[in-house]
Amino acid sequence: MRGSFTYYNPTKLYFGKDAINGLKEELKNYGKNVVLVYGGGSIKKNGIYDTVTTILKESGKNVFEDAGVMSNPTIKKVYEGIEIARSANVDMFLAIGGGSVIDYTKAVSASVNLPSGVDPWDEYFVKYNECTVKPIPIGTILTMVGTGSEMNGGSVITNEDAGLKVGKVFDSNLFPKFTILNPEYTYTVPRYQMVSGIFDIMSHIMEQYFSGDDDNTSDYIMEGLMRSLITSSKIAVKNPTDYDARSNIMWTATWALNTFAGKGKAQDWEVHNIGQAVGAITNAAHGMTLSAVSIPYYRLILPYGLPKFKRFALNVWNVNPFGKNMNATYAKTDSEIAKEGLLMMSEWMREIGLVMHLTDLGVTNEMLDSIIKATFYNDGGYKKLTQADVLNILNESM
Ligand code: NZQ
Ligand code: ZN
Repeated sequence: MRGSFTYYNPTKLYFGKDAINGLKEELKNYGKNVVLVYGGGSIKKNGIYDTVTTILKESGKNVFEDAGVMSNPTIKKVYEGIEIARSANVDMFLAIGGGSVIDYTKAVSASVNLPSGVDPWDEYFVKYNECTVKPIPIGTILTMVGTGSEMNGGSVITNEDAGLKVGKVFDSNLFPKFTILNPEYTYTVPRYQMVSGIFDIMSHIMEQYFSGDDDNTSDYIMEGLMRSLITSSKIAVKNPTDYDARSNIMWTATWALNTFAGKGKAQDWEVHNIGQAVGAITNAAHGMTLSAVSIPYYRLILPYGLPKFKRFALNVWNVNPFGKNMNATYAKTDSEIAKEGLLMMSEWMREIGLVMHLTDLGVTNEMLDSIIKATFYNDGGYKKLTQADVLNILNESM
């Protein structure tokens, strides 16, 4: 393990069927004015809203609401949220939802105390400045699994006017103070969203795995996480209320992106860069933007990171390194093994119902140029992409 790093994660987790009991305890640590942040209303249909508002009332809190946070939250909504929070004289946020609600809450939390005249978009999503004003504490109740936002500082915000979707990684002072993780809360997530979240988790792990050439504990941990995810995903698509599967997926999601799994090694994130550019233009579900471009992307970089792709095939997909030919056994080449791994991955993706083509997300040939221009180009992976490479990837996915 060659990298030097600091590891600190301040988010306290409550996990399991009774995790909500942690909320009452946590609420004692914060002031009276709570802004409840949520999305389009799923929490009212499945009863989570009633459960939580009862606890807030019993705890003597003044509850203010910031509802209607959309998937892929916009900076315009962030401006609205800042006003709601300021007029509530907010002491804490309680964010109930998936990545969109939690990411949004972080952006608002970092902005409530910004001096007037400082634009949060410019400050955090253009200049990438640290949050130096006092953030408002955030607690979260996760209802849709995938992003890892429940235990990290990530906040991805879309600026519709600029045609950009930008991810800011805030410092640990913006991580949720606590998170309630009850796998049963995810049972009502529509299948399309569930599967999208599952691929988001897979992609987070792959972005950290496909980089570097040192022998690294983090890679072994990630192989275990991927194996668990693949097993549980196959069960969850057949039976969405299988507790073992849903709880494994939930826990894997948190560890896939709580800054632990990729410690001490280089990281890639190019699939996310392309996916975010697709998301900015289509507003599609985040995980589906990643699934649509992943196979073409990994096929393209495979020759540049062959040993890691071979290892992925053997350790994650159990590819047999030997083949049979006219009753004789032969050793497959590294390239054959590596390619078979990607083939098995694409079969799994089809089996669980992932989007494999950008056209299924409404992408047209006319949009390709804007996607290429909105893509950030990193150099942490096995190959730094050019715009021509991204065009090839997009074309292959059409
Ligand atoms: O809005 P409601 O009505 O609640 O419906 C939501 C939404 O339509 C629904 N949903 C959530 N929980 C449900 C439920 N429906 C029924 N029952 C439940 N229990 O699911 C839909 C999608 O929710 P959303 O929060 O948008 O999904 P996700 O968790 O995938 O979050 C996506 C956002 O997170 C960003 C993405 O870019 C995207 O903007 N990401 C954040 C990251 C981070 N913070 O580190 C990293 C990721 O790579 C990602 O970029
Ligand atoms: Zn993601």
